Amino acid sequence: MKIVVIQGPNLNMLGIREQNIYGPMKLEDIHKQMKGFAEQNKVDIEFFQSNLEGEIVDRIQECIGDADGIIINAAAYTHTSIAIRDAIAAVQLPTLEVHLSNIHQREEFRHKSLLAPVCAGQIIGMGPFGYHLAMVGMTQILSEVAAMREHQAKTQAAAQQQQQ
Ligand code: DQA
Repeated sequence: MKIVVIQGPNLNMLGIREQNIYGPMKLEDIHKQMKGFAEQNKVDIEFFQSNLEGEIVDRIQECIGDADGIIINAAAYTHTSIAIRDAIAAVQLPTLEVHLSNIHQREEFRHKSLLAPVCAGQIIGMGPFGYHLAMVGMTQILSEVAAMREHQAKTQAAAQQQQQ
């Protein structure tokens, strides 16, 4: 089981940027905590941060055949990027959207997420803990997917046996 974590523009500035909104924690420390959880739960995890929309689209596309699920905070691109939304829709992998801040409590232009309709769920306003919740949520989604596939394979095999 592999999860790819994708971080959008200015998230590399966590710990420096607008601490009153995003808090003091650096991105690398958030990733360290996620890695710890992943190791405990025997999940492979990979992190990617970019300030460039096209690079984020490329990384999402690369998840085909490589990852089982995506956790994404597309930051400001959340509110503007049809390209990132289309990439998420294209890869057909369970995707969770995370925002540190509660985007609905902020400026009106942050209220709309173009990504939300193509994501399995959204975790917002929980600060860095939101990424932990996303990990818990994603491992749950992926184990449900695995159980469903196993069940489908068993019923298919049983149906084939009956036909013989
Ligand atoms: C953010 C919210 C966005 O509106 C903003 O542009 C960010 C961070 C968050 O995590 O709260 O850069 O995605």
